Amino acid sequence: MEKNVHDIVIVGAGLAGLRAAVAAVEVGNKLSIAVISKLHPLRSHSVCAQGGTAAVMREGDSFELHAWDTIKGADFLADQDIVEFFVRQAPKEIINLEHWGCPWSRTPDGKLDQRPFGGHSFPRACFAADMTGFHEMHTLYGKAVTYDNIKFYDEWFATSLIVEDNSVRGLTAIDLKTGEMGVFQTKAVVMATGGHERIYEFTTFSHSSTGDGMAIAYRAGAPLEDMEFVQFHPTGLVPSGVLITEGARGEGGYLINAKGERFMKNYAPKMMELAPRDIVARAEETEIREGRAFKGPYGPYIALDLRHLGEDKIKERLPLIREVCIKLVGLDPVNELIPIRPAAHYSMGGIRANIRAETPIRGLYAAGECACYSLHGANRLGTNSTAECLVFGAVAGEEAARYAMSTELRSLPMDKALAEEKRVFDGVLGSEGSERVPEIRREMRQVMNTDVWIYRTEEGLKRALRKIRELRERFKHIKIEDKSKSFNTALTSALELDFMLELAEVTTYCALMRTESRGSHYRLDYPNRDDKNWLVHTLAYYTVEGPRLEYTPVTITKWQPTERKY
Ligand code: FUM
Repeated sequence: MEKNVHDIVIVGAGLAGLRAAVAAVEVGNKLSIAVISKLHPLRSHSVCAQGGTAAVMREGDSFELHAWDTIKGADFLADQDIVEFFVRQAPKEIINLEHWGCPWSRTPDGKLDQRPFGGHSFPRACFAADMTGFHEMHTLYGKAVTYDNIKFYDEWFATSLIVEDNSVRGLTAIDLKTGEMGVFQTKAVVMATGGHERIYEFTTFSHSSTGDGMAIAYRAGAPLEDMEFVQFHPTGLVPSGVLITEGARGEGGYLINAKGERFMKNYAPKMMELAPRDIVARAEETEIREGRAFKGPYGPYIALDLRHLGEDKIKERLPLIREVCIKLVGLDPVNELIPIRPAAHYSMGGIRANIRAETPIRGLYAAGECACYSLHGANRLGTNSTAECLVFGAVAGEEAARYAMSTELRSLPMDKALAEEKRVFDGVLGSEGSERVPEIRREMRQVMNTDVWIYRTEEGLKRALRKIRELRERFKHIKIEDKSKSFNTALTSALELDFMLELAEVTTYCALMRTESRGSHYRLDYPNRDDKNWLVHTLAYYTVEGPRLEYTPVTITKWQPTERKY
């Protein structure tokens, strides 16, 4: 088995992973850093981020206000010390990217422009038209490749962490080109693999967002935090689910039902379409359930109306979504309504990490969407995620570098790497059952879409859990026809499905156990927020029988929970 040795291994080359790599090398310029990714870095899901990156950049705004918006948006489940740290760091990251060449959109007098976004009481989203993630990624990648001691392993698929005495020793990954398992011996691993929303059928996420890093860390003993909180973005394009940025509403777009009403007046009269996403997505779902949606060949939908913005503004501020609408559904938003409905968009939960991005496993750090600090609590505000990737990517890189410089490389238990090779090639690829991966995946996504969606009930969650457990059993009896080595996508799809089933079970079980409604988690059978019993984070620990849950208090510094009104 090929063995590679590095001081730090970063898994994932999206915004958080690339930012971690640059930060690590700036702390320790003699460190050897590997960035491994199952995709070419510029195909990471971060390039799909559209609307912006939140930061306090001008007079009239303040750290206090950004923190308050985030905490209220989070339905008071955010750890407030984390939020306070985050809002202070975010502007520095905007300036870093500016210095590294990010083409931010500008005001006529040349300053960085900022647009309004849901739940923010000040226009604080810095943006690059509606391709913010794309430009941030190209900027960061351009910066990262200037360092000789950052080595990229593109198209390597991570499968497991090697941990001994609760500290990281290494990682196994398949080199997709050769199809061989390799092992990385290292002092520190930074997980930056993004979210797991491909467990759902209707999602804004890339096909690659299968939660690999979360599942790998969980199986290695790191707890997953607050996994019941899945964000539904109000504007997934029908029928594909491709994101139509909230920036479209930030620029003044309306949501209307089939009666032509701007129905948000009934749900959030002050903030209307720019209320936080949990509220807007629920409002849309209610309009759909109560029969006020448009009817189409792909089911009921809501309309996003941009026509009043005018052609010039749409072409300047929202060129990507115009192109997406023309190419994918054959309509031009300059003249026509855009068919949308809520789509799974973001995981507030992830690998538990502290303010230094450390997880409970020594030498394991987590950054970006795969992590949970908890910055977003029960509901994230739009544009706080790209900001999070930059802020906590930098923290994870710096902390991993300091750790790597202060510790010796420890021995690598090769028996664990060999056991993983056997599990993947004999166990998964060699399985000679009759079950098909695409069919199990389809059934998983369907049940998540119906029973672990915006409105949840005990009955539905129990049904989903039974189904997911049945699918996990069936997964043990799969057959992969393609036994070839190089770029065996049938094998990687099976490994991804295995990770997704694990995470679907955790998400559903945590949702079943939380008997209240908060943020994105809405229980029809427990419709109220219950601060007396549930102002706590959920921690899920791996056991062979299924997740074991513990609960831990939320950190409140100065903002006491109040009723959320918008
Ligand atoms: O709508 C959007 O552009 C998404 C932004 C975000 O999720 O932060």
